[in-house]
Amino acid sequence: MDYSQILNLFIFILPAYLANSSPVLLGGGQSMDFKRYFSDGKRILGDGKTWRGFFGGVAVGTISGFLLGFPLLAFLLSVGTLVGDTAGSFIKRRMNIGRGKQSLILDQLTFLFVALIFAYPLLPEYVDLYGVLFLLVFTYIMHVLSNIVAHRMGWKKVPW
Ligand code: CTP
Ligand code: MG
Repeated sequence: MDYSQILNLFIFILPAYLANSSPVLLGGGQSMDFKRYFSDGKRILGDGKTWRGFFGGVAVGTISGFLLGFPLLAFLLSVGTLVGDTAGSFIKRRMNIGRGKQSLILDQLTFLFVALIFAYPLLPEYVDLYGVLFLLVFTYIMHVLSNIVAHRMGWKKVPW
């Protein structure tokens, strides 16, 4: 794989990264579970999932796709990203992992996985299987590294 292929992969997945990270800034207000509890006595999703964050993330990812020249793909990736992020929180609550507590696989990879599933019909136009595998490994490493950096900088209490 040469540099231009890696750059293309990065551009392809950028809407998903933007959709995944923008809710931190755009979120707030009504929580997606309307503060309701599941049958196990825990919150369905928790206060970390808000409607503003959901639709803000979808909007930012989709708008980036308009600028990059692939709005439909970006829209599918963005909706998939936020659905995956929401599903990840649902699973974390069922596993008794509190809001904001880390779950390495669920936090770093579910969003990408579900984004790729949503964009599945369009994927062959943009990436091959090696590209998808590269993105999964690359995303995981990037998340782990950025958490370590955020810890060193004093932005996060724990390095994961
Ligand atoms: N956020 C939001 N709405 C969403 C997703 C995220 O408002 N649909 C905001 C929340 O302020 C959240 C922050 O972005 O705290 C970081 O997102 P994330 O790490 O996904 O949430 P956590 O707080 O870690 O909660 P969870 O344990 O459920 O993942
Ligand atoms: Mg989190």
